Amino acid sequence: MYRKIPFYLSLATLFCLPLVIFLLIPQLGFFPFYPSLPSPISPSDELSDLSLLRLASSSSRPYSRLSSSSSRSPKIAFLFLTNTQLHFSPLWQSFFDRSSSKSRFNIYVHSSPSLNLTFRPSSVFAGRVIPSKATSRASPTLISAARRLLAHAILHDPANQYFALVSQHCVPLRSFDYVYNSLFTSSSFDLSDDDKVSAKIGVKLRLRSFIEVHDQSKNHWKRYTARGRYAMEPEVPFEKFRVGSQFFVITRKHALTVVRDRKLWSKFRMPCYREDACYPEEHYFPTLLDMEDPKGVTKYTLTRVNWTGTVDGHPYTYSASEVSPELIHRLRKSNYSASYLFARKFSPDCLEPLMKMADSVIFQD
Ligand SMILES: *[C@@H]1O[C@H](CO)[C@@H](O)[C@H](O)[C@H]1NC(C)=O
Ligand SMILES: *[C@@H]1O[C@H](CO)[C@@H](O)[C@H](O)[C@H]1NC(C)=O
Ligand SMILES: *[C@@H]1O[C@H](CO)[C@@H](O)[C@H](O)[C@H]1NC(C)=O
Repeated sequence: MYRKIPFYLSLATLFCLPLVIFLLIPQLGFFPFYPSLPSPISPSDELSDLSLLRLASSSSRPYSRLSSSSSRSPKIAFLFLTNTQLHFSPLWQSFFDRSSSKSRFNIYVHSSPSLNLTFRPSSVFAGRVIPSKATSRASPTLISAARRLLAHAILHDPANQYFALVSQHCVPLRSFDYVYNSLFTSSSFDLSDDDKVSAKIGVKLRLRSFIEVHDQSKNHWKRYTARGRYAMEPEVPFEKFRVGSQFFVITRKHALTVVRDRKLWSKFRMPCYREDACYPEEHYFPTLLDMEDPKGVTKYTLTRVNWTGTVDGHPYTYSASEVSPELIHRLRKSNYSASYLFARKFSPDCLEPLMKMADSVIFQD
């Protein structure tokens, strides 16, 4: 009897030790038992965002361009997400100036709060900067910034029917009117659309969101478990975890899906244990929209990006010497749509050569 107690004790220790180690290693263990990392988003920021998102979720007056009471045409909300100066604002200014109607777009800018973005009074960007918070890589702050932009645009104008998220490194590849007609009227622009009726009658019957959605990426499992082995369960099982483009063009219906979401956000807002697999902004939007409305998304992006020779998660950045009419024509070519509409990334010194060929090449459709 006396001899048995130490035996059971040592046996118990033997069984418990691996369990203790298992629980203490976040990549292996259960997230709730591990001392949690500080949230990248402060409780006060989270609260102020929540009231904005609530407001946007509930203020959604339905808008129909078919209804006779709405005389206004639908608009595209351009959401500029930047943490530097908007280097290409003169090019975008020309893009908007050349549009055949000034009532077909709205502009919203989310910049770093430490920057004083100032525009001359005649600029299309003047007065378009929304209240912002700091963003950083490898954190969910970029998702928050995009949600803030969507919420402001939803609240500001019920005619905003498409929401195009662009960065300071993005440039247009087409004229505004080409972009507008491609999104709202062309029945042949989206080559993935299997809606035969639309194609036959030549009228676009439904609006879909343009965002990449893939169920595989390099290190997909590593990215899925970046917050802990079971951190995303049960809301986001691995089979539903998607990857896609950070910059997208989505419909009002999907913009509302995004501002209304609390479930997936509660997962994606968590900090990562490993920075080298932490790209929440590339996963949150494709995963959410693919879960909520898979048929409503095209699964490709309208923003051309060159991932050849990627360095540290950054795509290729074009420099001034590479900018030519041939480059613009090459970048437009897409396997999924009649044309890419935007492209990134371009270094700030590309502004001059791009401006020189804006009217003769970029806005020539
Ligand atoms: C931004 O501009 C405001 C008003 O012009 C000024 O008070 C503030 O100090 C500026 N902030 C920075 C970071 O330059
Ligand atoms: C993509 O970037 C590579 C350099 O990494 C370059 O050689 C190639 O020409 C670029 N592709 C296009 C379509 O511009
Ligand atoms: C289109 O598809 C071909 C063949 O799969 C591929 O080589 C090419 O890179 C694709 N082009 C674009 C712009 O994605």
